[in-house]
Amino acid sequence: MAEGTLQRLENGALDAEGVIPLYLSDDHSLYWVGSFGEDEEIRCNSYLMIDGGQAWVFEPGGLAHFQPTFDKVSELISPFEITHMVVSHQDPDVCASLASWLQFNPDIQIVCPDLWHRFMPHFMVYHAQYQLVPDTGLQLPLASGGQLDCISAPYLHSPGNIVVFDRVSGFLLSGDIGAAAVRSDRLELVIDDWADQLARMTGFHQRYMGSTRAAAAFVARMRGLPITAMLPQHGQIFRGEEVQRFMAWFATLPCGVDFLDLDTQ
Ligand SMILES: [Fe+2]
Ligand SMILES: [Fe+2]
Repeated sequence: MAEGTLQRLENGALDAEGVIPLYLSDDHSLYWVGSFGEDEEIRCNSYLMIDGGQAWVFEPGGLAHFQPTFDKVSELISPFEITHMVVSHQDPDVCASLASWLQFNPDIQIVCPDLWHRFMPHFMVYHAQYQLVPDTGLQLPLASGGQLDCISAPYLHSPGNIVVFDRVSGFLLSGDIGAAAVRSDRLELVIDDWADQLARMTGFHQRYMGSTRAAAAFVARMRGLPITAMLPQHGQIFRGEEVQRFMAWFATLPCGVDFLDLDTQ
């Protein structure tokens, strides 16, 4: 059933080589299809959403992630059935595999921030189709009757960054927001210890996120959304009340230009 799938996940029982279901219902499902290479510097969470005959890949990842994610998607559907790729920002660990996906299927639509649209052709030689998210956000209806809310979250960390709220599952696909360092010896997808989670997140958020003002604005924008889980592009998924614990921490975190002493750099 839908609600229990993510709640039941335990780090010790995860198969890093397999597809990991996070939300299952008749016409709307989400899976982890990310990468786990022991020698990878930055390990990426990619997510597959299957909804009413459409298939959406969130954060497809870098060049080396194409094959493992392709293989995992193939366990569930034909990769020809992928209709959309959603990228939160322009970084290579998010976008560098796009060319491989489009070479395979040029009909895939790329959902990305409007701000990065003109840079996307530098990742590929193919003429791609886009759905562009302006600073004011974009609501995308789903085939099942659900909806994705693409919400601008600028300077976290990219100037044109977006997050996506899935109104069916209540999952917030948060890109680098909430990203954490990972262990090299085993896959961990859920949080076992909050103090340990904070230690893994702090350095990244202090240096990579734009400013405390940007963080606080994001947290205010999320207020009122019925978020059941937050799924970052790296590290562990926040479940239930862990989401609000993260928001409370992030809203006042000295980060970016508020963290660096720019006058002495
Ligand atoms: Fe990034
Ligand atoms: Fe990233």
